[in-house]
Order: sequence, then structure tokens, then C-alpha cells
Amino acid sequence: ARITLRQLLDHAAERGYGVPAFNINNMEQVIAIMEAAASCDAPVILQASRGARSYAGDRMLAKMIEAAEAEHPQIPICLHQDHGNDEATCLSAIQHGFTSVMMDGSLMADARTPADYDYNVAITARVTDMAHRVGVSVEGELGVLGSLETGTGAAEDGHGAEGTLSHDQLLTDPDQAVAFVRATKVDALAVAMGTSHGAYKFSRKPDGAILAMHVIRAINERMPELHLVMHGSSSVPQDLQEAFNRHGGEMPQTWGVPVEEILLGIRHGVRKVNIDTDCRLAMAAAIRKVATGNRAEFDPRQFMKPAIAALRDLCRSRFQAFGTAGQA
Ligand code: G3H
Ligand code: 13P
Ligand code: NA
Ligand code: ZN
Repeated sequence: ARITLRQLLDHAAERGYGVPAFNINNMEQVIAIMEAAASCDAPVILQASRGARSYAGDRMLAKMIEAAEAEHPQIPICLHQDHGNDEATCLSAIQHGFTSVMMDGSLMADARTPADYDYNVAITARVTDMAHRVGVSVEGELGVLGSLETGTGAAEDGHGAEGTLSHDQLLTDPDQAVAFVRATKVDALAVAMGTSHGAYKFSRKPDGAILAMHVIRAINERMPELHLVMHGSSSVPQDLQEAFNRHGGEMPQTWGVPVEEILLGIRHGVRKVNIDTDCRLAMAAAIRKVATGNRAEFDPRQFMKPAIAALRDLCRSRFQAFGTAGQA
């Protein structure tokens, strides 16, 4: 059954759990996440980026979700637009059956340039007004995701110019967050706290200087009812890096967001936890293993089956850690 982000996160807040939001681009990812959810009775957030929608095509994506619902009628599914960059993207997502949209007004529509506060409030409020009329939830973002270590962030893809953003831009201001939520009426708020997208978040195991969990606590103190969203929350586990590299991959040593930090966030109002990189890495390591271990193999299914299993196991472990398991 399809549910909105608001319905799911209200339930999560009431019961004190968090929900991982996994990115989907293809059938194998949908199958893996749904199998994981069904095996531990967890509600799911499936999120599609603009890139995912153009990769799979909106019709294909919509039909895959319909099929997943039919396969697993007992699992509540929230279909969410990840990082919508303008009103048209959010509207077309809703037309294709999304029950939640992120209007990311922290950046201009080019998704590279930091936006000012007034632009963010105005565009997010317009999307919320439109979405709420048709029963769809909205996630907003205040502050630019990016690295406190390097000051990199605007592009949110790890490829922005180094040292261009100040700590002020890279950390959400808690008082401004209160004003933003009042002005926009968003159902959930993504905050900037030192995390960034991709595998290369931190050059060492993060501490309070580079992963600002205090931002979460400060916002939660001011607005205990607000559902917070952590982006860039892959843990980039050492064992996945090793598996990837063992089979010919070349990933330099890196650190992500430790699961115990996410659990601290969940104790302070974090309800949605965005994870894409870990999913990519789990699948890619499994595909590499087949490619290097059996060089005669050319049946795509023999590559994808272990990749599905690796992603399923990763998702199940996050459902269990975040307390999502058993909540469907
Ligand atoms: O926003 C970041 C997610 O990892 C989605 O990435 O835009 O390459 O699909 P993508
Ligand atoms: P990761 O790159 O850490 O998986 O973050 C994904 C994300 O925030 C998608 O919006
Ligand atoms: Na999102
Ligand atoms: Zn994100």
C-alpha cells in the first residue's frame, strides 16, 4: 500500500524509529529493497532522483512501483522525489504517483549554486501549497550539504570547487530552521551538518568537528515535533570498501557516517535517513566479484543475482539498526 511521507514519519516519531530512504534506478534495486523490507516487516521509502527518472523513464519507474506493491501488499511504500530542483519536477513526480517530493531550494535550479533564504522559502512554500492540496508530502532543505573539512559543497556531488563555502552555509542555523518550517509548512526538513553525497565524505573517522550532530540536537530542542532528514548518510563501511577493492576496484580509503551517529540522530528527531552510496557499493562489489572470479561469465543474471542479494542484506541491516524492522 502506498503512504505519504507524513503518515510514515508521524508513525516513526510516535514509535521512536528512523526510516532509511534508499535510492532506486532499476528493477534489481526495487526487488532487493522490497525483499529486505518483506523479510523484516519494515515500511519503506523508495526515492528516485531526477537522474533515476531519466534513466529508467517515468512510466517504467511508476509501473515497477505498482508491481512492487502488488508483490508485497503488506508493506507500506512511500515513493519520494529525491532532490527536486524546481516546481515542474515536483509536479510531474506527483503526476506519476509519487506520494512525497523533496523541493531542494537550498540550491538554485541548476543544482550547483547556493540559493538565498528568500528564494528557498518562496519556492518551497509554493510546492508545499500545491502538494498538500493533493495529499502529497514535502521535504525541504535548509543549508548547503557539504564538507566542513574542505569547505566543498555547492554542487552537492563532491565535485564543487574547494574552499568556496563557509561554515555558516554548511551548517543549518537552528533559529532560521524554525522560521523556515513555519513559513513553508514542510512535512520534513533536511539539514546541513557536515555530511555530503558520495563515497568521499570524511578523510578520517568523523568526530564532532566534522560531523555536526549538535545541529540536530539544537533544532530538535526548538521543534521536537519536526521530522528531520539526514542526507549523505551512507556509512561507506570498511568491509564494503575492502570487498570492492579485493575484486579489482580502486576506492581510496574513506569514511562515511557511522551507524551509531545516525542512531544518535534518531534519538533527536531524525526520521528519514538517505542512503544511496552504500547501496551502489554493495551491488558494485558483488558484480566485480563475478566479473573477476569467473571471466567466462556473460549471463547478466549471474551478475545481478549476487548484487541483489548484497543490496538486500545491506538494507535489512539498516532496517534492523534504525528500528524500522517490525513496524510495517
Ligand atoms: O542525491 C544524490 C543521490 O545519491 C542520487 O544520485 O543524482 O546520481 O541519481 P543521482
Ligand atoms: P549518500 O551518498 O551518502 O548515500 O547520500 C544519499 C543522499 O543523500 C540522497 O539524497
Ligand atoms: Na530526498
Ligand atoms: Zn541527498
